Amino acid sequence: MLGDKKVLFSGMQATGNLTLGNYLGALKNWVTLSDEYECFYSVVDMHSITVRQDPAELRNRARRLLMLYIAAGLDPEKNCIYFQSHVSGHAELAWILNCYTYMGELSRMTQFKDKSAKHADNINAGLFTYPVLMAADILLYQADVVPVGIDQMQHLELTRDIAQRFNSIYGDVFTVPEPYIGKVGAKIMSLQDPSKKMSKSDENPNASIYLMDDPDTIMRKFKRAVTDSEGAVRYDEERQPGICNLIDIYCACTGHTADETVAEFEGKGYGDFKTAVGESVVSVLRPLHSKMEDLAKNKDYIDRVIKDNAEKAQYAAGKTLRKVQKKVGFPEKIR
Ligand code: TRP
Repeated sequence: MLGDKKVLFSGMQATGNLTLGNYLGALKNWVTLSDEYECFYSVVDMHSITVRQDPAELRNRARRLLMLYIAAGLDPEKNCIYFQSHVSGHAELAWILNCYTYMGELSRMTQFKDKSAKHADNINAGLFTYPVLMAADILLYQADVVPVGIDQMQHLELTRDIAQRFNSIYGDVFTVPEPYIGKVGAKIMSLQDPSKKMSKSDENPNASIYLMDDPDTIMRKFKRAVTDSEGAVRYDEERQPGICNLIDIYCACTGHTADETVAEFEGKGYGDFKTAVGESVVSVLRPLHSKMEDLAKNKDYIDRVIKDNAEKAQYAAGKTLRKVQKKVGFPEKIR
């Protein structure tokens, strides 16, 4: 708890182009949570260097992601929006927690197995201990809840284990976080293969709607979206996974339910439906684009948000860090 609100922590990486899945599945929900919780939303740039990055590109993308948080509706006065690398406590706590995490636990992480297969030429120690840094992110702010996608659940479970382990040795130091799984649009699938999640690292550009795609590109990608030969808009996950995905997207963009959508398109062909889905996405992304353009013109404002929120985060992080350092037996600093 911070004040009378529960604390929420989440973060996103600034690697790859963010997709509609990132927006509908995560960012949009973050905005709805920001009244209820004391929120920390980090751009986790330290996580990004576990795979090689072009420095200029990472810097640029990180800044744009922070702007996107704001453009999506997160008020930087109310939410702590900051770069992970600006708060030294993340690395410091991660080191300590490394000493309370077992090799065996980390080798069981499926994301590590996937990523080390994908980047076989660079299986670095950071890739291996990545979940410990993530645990540090969360525990540093004594977060009660963490909105995460299903792919990060294993990391969150590990975070809970580390917190409980530490608490059982030293007393109640960390809040043990709970996952928060959003209801609407929690999972948007690839437009080319509805059995796969829409991903920013998909090689086929038609599989994903990128948040910065222009309207023509969006409409074209929806026209090419994979469907089936049933020929009717119905919510049948077995037989019509592609159509289900389009219904999910349409519902997330319009606020309609799946039943309403099926009724709305009764007797209409896939062509009409795809056009409507595309248009609903365009109308959700249009204000996001114009907000990004405005923010891009306002460098001083963004700089101030970056500075003020880093200080706010540093302050909250420092409290936990000092407590932990004392518990493990580091000598007190002389001030
Ligand atoms: N690992 C997360 C991802 O790749 C990003 C992340 C880092 C995160 N630290 C976090 C998410 C803390 C939630 C909480 O998606």
